Amino acid sequence: MDGNSTPTSIVTIDDLTNSQIEDVLDLAAEIDRDRDAFYGVASRRIMASLFLEPSTRTRGSFESAMNRLGGRTITTTDARSSSMAKGESLADTVRIWSGYADLLVIRHPWEGAARLAAEYSDVPVINAGDGGHEHPTQTLLDLYTLRNEYKTLEGLRIAICGDLKNSRTVHSLVYALIRFGAEIIFVPAQGLELPDHVRNKMETVYDRRIERVDPGALQALYGADLGEAENAAKVDALYITPSQPHLRAMYEEGAKIEIQLQDGRPLAIYVTRQQVERGSDLSEESGAARAYPRINASTMSGSDFSKSIIMHPLPRVDELSPDMDSDHRSKYFVQARNGVPVRMALISLILGLKPWGARSMAQPSSATAGQVIPQTDYIRCATPDCVTQKEAQNARAEFTFFRQPVVRFVCAYCEREVKPGYFARPRGAVYYPIDQFLYPSWDASDSLFFTDVNDAEALGLRPALIAARAEPLAVEVTR
Ligand code: CP
Repeated sequence: MDGNSTPTSIVTIDDLTNSQIEDVLDLAAEIDRDRDAFYGVASRRIMASLFLEPSTRTRGSFESAMNRLGGRTITTTDARSSSMAKGESLADTVRIWSGYADLLVIRHPWEGAARLAAEYSDVPVINAGDGGHEHPTQTLLDLYTLRNEYKTLEGLRIAICGDLKNSRTVHSLVYALIRFGAEIIFVPAQGLELPDHVRNKMETVYDRRIERVDPGALQALYGADLGEAENAAKVDALYITPSQPHLRAMYEEGAKIEIQLQDGRPLAIYVTRQQVERGSDLSEESGAARAYPRINASTMSGSDFSKSIIMHPLPRVDELSPDMDSDHRSKYFVQARNGVPVRMALISLILGLKPWGARSMAQPSSATAGQVIPQTDYIRCATPDCVTQKEAQNARAEFTFFRQPVVRFVCAYCEREVKPGYFARPRGAVYYPIDQFLYPSWDASDSLFFTDVNDAEALGLRPALIAARAEPLAVEVTR
């Protein structure tokens, strides 16, 4: 997406500015008021839905949305029934399908697949979920549901529970909520906490801090799972606050505050299932049964939750009991139905069939940070399900470099981090351990970074003799 333009593809939620998100939700609300008035908006347009991973809601609501706009859909739901089964690449598949349709909606098990698709498609691409990376249109309908409930997106309070590690809906939702100033309380399943790359992105791209807190009344969500003292001792919530000095002062290093829910402010509880298909297996059979936050009539009986709403991207397994289905606080089926007007709105805007708002046209794209470094010959993304690993011949090696909180490269496709072990300075004869990359004046683009020391050795570089120094190299840093 260009700095001052409307998006051509939606690969991550950051492809939409806050104004553009509000445009989508405003148009969805208009559609909700009189859906039939929008029939014919997409007549003579074709949407290709490439769903190479199972889906009920996302595919169903995208296709329903296109049909309700008067457009048509063509679909692939199984790679085994397409020429991918004969070895055709994703890039070629996308090239071909983009010749048959005006819009591609893709769900794929590889992280970064939607970005690769956008690079090879002649028509706009919408990410309908790419592995454990992102699910931006789920976030749009989540925000629509929240806005319908609270009449605003500003300053919400939301507890996000369950599999925070591998749930792509959580990753996209968190980034959007942060941008709208939400207070987020993370209530993870034990062992499925937010991954480092998401936490680091919160700090470096969105300038938000995460604090470890006592979950307070939210501890009830762990229910009987906290029966064992061993588990109880290990379960914490995390709390995200804007990085503002007066707030920082509240949380001294090591201090632990308790979440207070009885302050009259609403609380949305967003529950997710274990993403077993992405390795989140904490079942008793796996030998790793751990505390998992669950919602049922009993855990929701406390007065702390009397004004809460319950959301879930679905499908559910056993973390959200059917005994909540008729409870007035449960919004997950409404949330799923909201997928249709929200996706009708997005399709209309992305195809230029309805105009973006004036503010959206003028506003620069979302915040970015870090330094994009296209030539990183000795850095390789190590994420097994990243499209750069699965289809290296078609994916560019492109990384964004960050110095804080640790030196790292972020893969442009899966957004996971690569921490190089070594670096060398321009024209230098030696390589250093990465913890010596400390000079603020050093430009990453003129240094060499290595994940594998053998690459440095192969260039004839020798290890720097810093271990023998009385002080580490860091003492030479000037500020
Ligand atoms: N919420 C969601 O993505 O559901 P499906 O996997 O059924 O599309």
